[in-house]
Amino acid sequence: MKRLDGKSALITGSARGIGRGFAEAYVREGATVAIADINLDAADATAAEIGPAAYAVELDVTRQDSIDAAIAAVVARAGKIDILINNAALFDAAETVDITRASYDKLYAVNVAGTLFTLQAAARQMIAQGHGGKVINMASQAGRRGESLVAVYCSTKAAVISLTQSTGLNLIRHGINVNAIAPGVVDGDHWVHVDEMFAKLEGKVPGQKKAEVEAGVPAGRFATPSDLTGMAVFLASSEADYIVSQTYNVDGGQWMS
Ligand SMILES: NC(=O)c1ccc[n+]([C@@H]2O[C@H](COP(=O)([O-])OP(=O)(O)OC[C@H]3O[C@@H](n4cnc5c(N)ncnc54)[C@H](O)[C@@H]3O)[C@@H](O)[C@H]2O)c1
Repeated sequence: MKRLDGKSALITGSARGIGRGFAEAYVREGATVAIADINLDAADATAAEIGPAAYAVELDVTRQDSIDAAIAAVVARAGKIDILINNAALFDAAETVDITRASYDKLYAVNVAGTLFTLQAAARQMIAQGHGGKVINMASQAGRRGESLVAVYCSTKAAVISLTQSTGLNLIRHGINVNAIAPGVVDGDHWVHVDEMFAKLEGKVPGQKKAEVEAGVPAGRFATPSDLTGMAVFLASSEADYIVSQTYNVDGGQWMS
């Protein structure tokens, strides 16, 4: 018996990176997984590579019609939704005096509103089904404390931690557990983009920021998505039925709380 046998999961932003790692782990544990991403071509390719238990769903978490259609697509395909991972997010970095409203609005639309309203739509479906569910929000060590050049992203992840607390308290009466994972630094396409941004902002050579950050990780290395999958499977399983509104650091020792 696998830990997620018979479960139906939707993972936002899972065409690549950490979300893809979660999808692969959930399929190994017996779940069917919707690879829900704004990039449908990439989602299709990822689902095909993972195998028949994974399928692509087009989803832009900034649009309510897209969220509703994605939930409907999961129900049409799998008959229900048991697990949601709110994983899609955008990153940006800038001097405080250079932050733009466009960047602020975009990051809040995806990272905060996207998380809340996808959670809301999934929770409505889970309540209608009547047998609870699991929601996992992707926070970050960036939500635990500020960073000089990362005001907007850090604040969106602090908001994710807070949303996890309040929605978790509100939904547990329906048997829906809302919790979050706060990674530290995870290797992948995202960090290529982050390293390029810091190279420009801090006058570093490509790769320098990443090497400096890695040197500061107590575990001595960046995470890979597979370093996070144990927590993601656990929080989605019945072993986590009594865990409510928590955010777990999976960050190689970078933050303690
Ligand atoms: N990589 C890290 O070091 C790190 C550290 C801490 C937290 N996190 C968090 O983990 C999560 C995954 O990070 P990642 O590094 O795998 O990111 P990533 O940038 O590699 O992947 C993000 C995915 O989200 C999709 N996406 C973007 N906008 C979307 C939208 N509007 N609707 C639906 N999908 C959309 C993208 O197409 C992409 O497939 C994010 O919430 C991120 O903030 C990452």
